[in-house]
Amino acid sequence: MTTEIVKIESLDESARVDLARAAEIIKTGGLVVFPTETVYGLGGDATNPEAAGKIYAAKGRPSDNPLIIHVSTPDEAEKYAHTTELYYKLAERFMPGPLTVVLKAKSTVPTNTRGGLDTVAVRCPENPIARELIRLAGVPIAAPSANLSGSPSPTTARHVLEDMNGRVDMIIDGGESDFGLESTIIKLDDGITLLRPGKITLSELEECIGDVSVSHAVTEALAPGERVLSPGMKYRHYAPKAEVLLIDGSALAACEYIRAEGDYENATIIAYTEDVPLFKGKFPNASIVDFGSSDDRLEQAHRLFSLLRDVDSKGTLKVYAPLPGQDGIGLALYNRMIRAAAYNIVKLN
Ligand code: TXA
Ligand code: MG
Repeated sequence: MTTEIVKIESLDESARVDLARAAEIIKTGGLVVFPTETVYGLGGDATNPEAAGKIYAAKGRPSDNPLIIHVSTPDEAEKYAHTTELYYKLAERFMPGPLTVVLKAKSTVPTNTRGGLDTVAVRCPENPIARELIRLAGVPIAAPSANLSGSPSPTTARHVLEDMNGRVDMIIDGGESDFGLESTIIKLDDGITLLRPGKITLSELEECIGDVSVSHAVTEALAPGERVLSPGMKYRHYAPKAEVLLIDGSALAACEYIRAEGDYENATIIAYTEDVPLFKGKFPNASIVDFGSSDDRLEQAHRLFSLLRDVDSKGTLKVYAPLPGQDGIGLALYNRMIRAAAYNIVKLN
């Protein structure tokens, strides 16, 4: 199929005409990639099982990995999920915004959309283009990140085009994603469990609703054959084709380690801004890239997926990157980076 690309800078008259067309595509079972404040989403009508099937096919995603349904207001969740008091507490504080809540599903959500589970993930995004698209479509929009299964989520329309050209009806280019990592996912059932960390941090969630347990899959590899709470956790994720090694230690120690290993021909070294000068010039033929200042987790989140994508386009064979701490937004970075590195971490002193 031919993919139409539409650029929207602000919600003006012509943007509304484009969005009306995009909504029509969704309503008639087609696929539209749209921007959100986290990453780009690959959207289809969440109430249409065929659209869900098309989403899985376009992504090359196993159909047991459920889709998030995007609603235009938090109370729209009522039609599709058994909402609870805790859901509304979270909604009041964090929605619209980068939070996804997993609840018991109602039968209005086709089994296909929820990957066969009896729960459904609900998210009300903040991005104005996303909100207007959902509103105009008049149905919730099922949308995974708009990347091919396994590769880093797209944070620009160029990334989307690399993966989705010819696989979707329309791509809406709304500029760079604001945050750059996917939403925080929390599951509410008998307990409260963090399934995926994101911009909304564990401590912010706990301030709002009390103790939250963290699924061990957030920070650790799964045991072989282990049953997971979130099917997406069992798949290889965010990984470039190059081998990624995370370094838990100072930049100086990293420098010595990489030198000693001698494996830096065609390597990419991801370094905090203040450490870039330390690496520059020491590793011929390696590329040193700036991850943002070490205390600026937001900037690092904003850059991570783009850096990981660039690695492959440069023909890099090995990537070295610092292992972030797990506090605040660091937990989201940690979670994505250990997956990108296939849990390959070296601890230095
Ligand atoms: O920021 C985001 O959440 C982006 C934008 C587009 O909204 N979407 C996104 O979707 O990251 P996706 O499909 O790439 O990641 C959603 C994750 C998957 O790992 C999936 O397994 C999990 O959420 N998930 C979806 N429904 C679930 C459910 N009912 N129970 C547990 N996990 C679920
Ligand atoms: Mg994804």
